[in-house]
Amino acid sequence: MKQPLIADIGTHVDSVVTIQGWLDGRRASGRLAFLIVRDGTGVLQCTVSAADVSPELLAVATRIGQETSLRVTGKVRAEARARGGYEMTVTDLQLIQEVHDYPITRKEHGPAFLMAHRHLWLRSSRQVAILRIRATIVRAIRSFLDDEGFTLIDSPILTGNAAEGTTTLFSTEYFDQTAYLSQSGQLYVEAAAMALGRVYCFGPTFRAERSSTRRHLNEFWMVEPEMAFFDLDDSLALQERLIANIVAEVLDRHGTDLAALERDTERLRAVVPPFPRVSYDDAIAMLRARGDEIAWGDDFGAPHETYISDQFDRPVFVHRYPARSKAFYMKPDPARPEVALCADLLASEGYGEIIGGSQRVDDLALLEARIQEHGLSAEQFAWYLDLRRYGTVPHSGFGLGIERLVAWICGIHHVRETIPFARTLDRLYP
Ligand code: 4AD
Ligand code: MG
Repeated sequence: MKQPLIADIGTHVDSVVTIQGWLDGRRASGRLAFLIVRDGTGVLQCTVSAADVSPELLAVATRIGQETSLRVTGKVRAEARARGGYEMTVTDLQLIQEVHDYPITRKEHGPAFLMAHRHLWLRSSRQVAILRIRATIVRAIRSFLDDEGFTLIDSPILTGNAAEGTTTLFSTEYFDQTAYLSQSGQLYVEAAAMALGRVYCFGPTFRAERSSTRRHLNEFWMVEPEMAFFDLDDSLALQERLIANIVAEVLDRHGTDLAALERDTERLRAVVPPFPRVSYDDAIAMLRARGDEIAWGDDFGAPHETYISDQFDRPVFVHRYPARSKAFYMKPDPARPEVALCADLLASEGYGEIIGGSQRVDDLALLEARIQEHGLSAEQFAWYLDLRRYGTVPHSGFGLGIERLVAWICGIHHVRETIPFARTLDRLYP
């Protein structure tokens, strides 16, 4: 007896097979029961008829509830009207566990209820589609960078210094010292770039941000490429190719999942280089022209970013932000030191900043001054300063937030649905 996956069921037409899975839904009408079975790779309509099974088995098929775990055996047929295009005529049905009180029902549940039942919510077809696309996105990023000659470098989670400001640190005891959960692997990949040229880290990062918005998580995954001898323009050219490549890969492999998510794929097909580049100055001018009271030097809020990205059909780079509002490691533009050689990539359709990147300060004296201005400890950063002492070179890098990228590509409103178990201000369970 074969035990194929539902995804491959089309190769078993006219054979008798056994599928193992869970009951996703059921319709019964007298002498017939239609079981919708899912196994994680797809769903299959399984028809249980009085003509093929005993009255006892038909009674079982008519009474079992959603998420009953089971094995169904029967002959596979092509059936254009069934979801997925195939159907099974059941000859045997074996229950692994019969369920009647599954908490997530067909009715509408609020996000608080669903997040509290996230361990079960993951089984819904929408969540499965999102997680499958997330896995493809991660693989696309890794294979793109690997093919471009990058080396994967794992950066530490427990760190002794802050990379992205001291206000969003999670701290923990580390024997007789204090350790911080990593906000970014950047400083470590800068060291590795001086050893290997082009590198990236890919892992979870932590920010103790007290903001609960649709774009913020307290634990999120970030890929951070770092490139020796790249200036800001080189980095932007790499970023747009990376993003276009990821989107193309998802479009290629996940038509069904994107359809299940009701994603407008025309918007995704427009994501081809070159992406527009707008300076911070011009972005301020655009916002003021539509009547916003925003001054040079102000940060953009979500509505500002949405307005800017709405002006374009693909993601847009906003570059050269005021240096004083940006991280200590960003290189000032030599032509205009009040702005930094940095850029954020804003996704279309209001998804906001998906990439933040910059060219790095490569001069020792300037970096020392910046560390001091930011109130950071020169002692904690002694190792980082060494990188500017021994063979410093121009270099650039960026951080791409996986959850925001997944949200945008899938068209999901809130990032909490783009990671298996989101960590937000009010959620550590499950
Ligand atoms: O702009 P950020 O803070 O940049 C860095 O951490 C740099 N060290 C990256 C680098 O140059 N190597 O974060 C980068 C990206 C953002 O553009 C966003 O996509 C994501 O990380 N991100 C978050 N995603 C979800 N929740 C949060 N709280 C996030 N904070 C940043
Ligand atoms: Mg940023």
